[in-house]
Amino acid sequence: MTTLYDNIGLAYDITRKADPEITRRSRNHLQVSNGSQILDIACGTGNYTVALENTGLLMTGSDISKEMIKKARGKSKTINWGVADVNKLPYESNTFEGVTCTLAIHHFDDLLTPFQEVFRVLDKGRFVIFTSSPEQMNNYWLKEYFPKAIEVSANQMPNVVEVSDKLKRAGFNIIGHETFLIQPNLEDFFLYSGKYEPKMYLDEKVRSGISTFANLASNEEVEEGCSKLKEDIETKRIEEVLNKYSSDLGDYVYVIAEKK
Ligand SMILES: C[S@@+](CC[C@H](N)C(=O)[O-])C[C@H]1O[C@@H](n2cnc3c(N)ncnc32)[C@H](O)[C@@H]1O
Repeated sequence: MTTLYDNIGLAYDITRKADPEITRRSRNHLQVSNGSQILDIACGTGNYTVALENTGLLMTGSDISKEMIKKARGKSKTINWGVADVNKLPYESNTFEGVTCTLAIHHFDDLLTPFQEVFRVLDKGRFVIFTSSPEQMNNYWLKEYFPKAIEVSANQMPNVVEVSDKLKRAGFNIIGHETFLIQPNLEDFFLYSGKYEPKMYLDEKVRSGISTFANLASNEEVEEGCSKLKEDIETKRIEEVLNKYSSDLGDYVYVIAEKK
């Protein structure tokens, strides 16, 4: 089976890399000591898996896409990489001391089975999810230029209440939620990382590493949106648009759960 990311995988690492601040926060939320066994599910090309290994953790990374894992394998020989569906993780029960999932839960058909699998393979420890909510997404200024794609994308995002509910049903306790604000120097070019760099979205290479553009937007909408965006950047109308969409909901969110 070819997955969406088997295609995206070819260009993913041109614009996507681990952002140091996201890595630092994920590491902190895991609350583990150096040498702990951590699983990164839906790890893609392993950017965050490798970055977390560099903080002193013993990492395992798995993803459903063969292409993504092929790229990941070239980045670290000490990480235990595997091609696996989150619905059926190929690990023994009670193996890991922490699990991370970065920018991926919206791709899962259902959350309960993956969360039950994470609960099973965790011994004791935290499950750290980094995602965005539909409410946050509906306040992205990108909506001004790519309304249909952002709407479809927001509809695809599970809301935080649903995520927490499914985590509890899978057996987890909820530790908390932490909102994340995009900073101008963010190094991983995912959907809203260009919040303060609107011209970034005019670059086809950037768009091709973001599933909303690569998969959910029509060519027509992208062309029209980019030409309007280019004009607004030139006339500085973009400042008005940015203000119009300013919100206090935060841009992304960490959901942190625990198996006791
Ligand atoms: C946006 S990428 C994020 C990759 C990585 N976590 C990162 O932040 O760089 C989403 C990943 O989820 C993976 N994915 C989607 N559905 C999956 C599933 N059912 N099981 C495992 N991985 C899945 C995709 O193959 C893709 O690599």
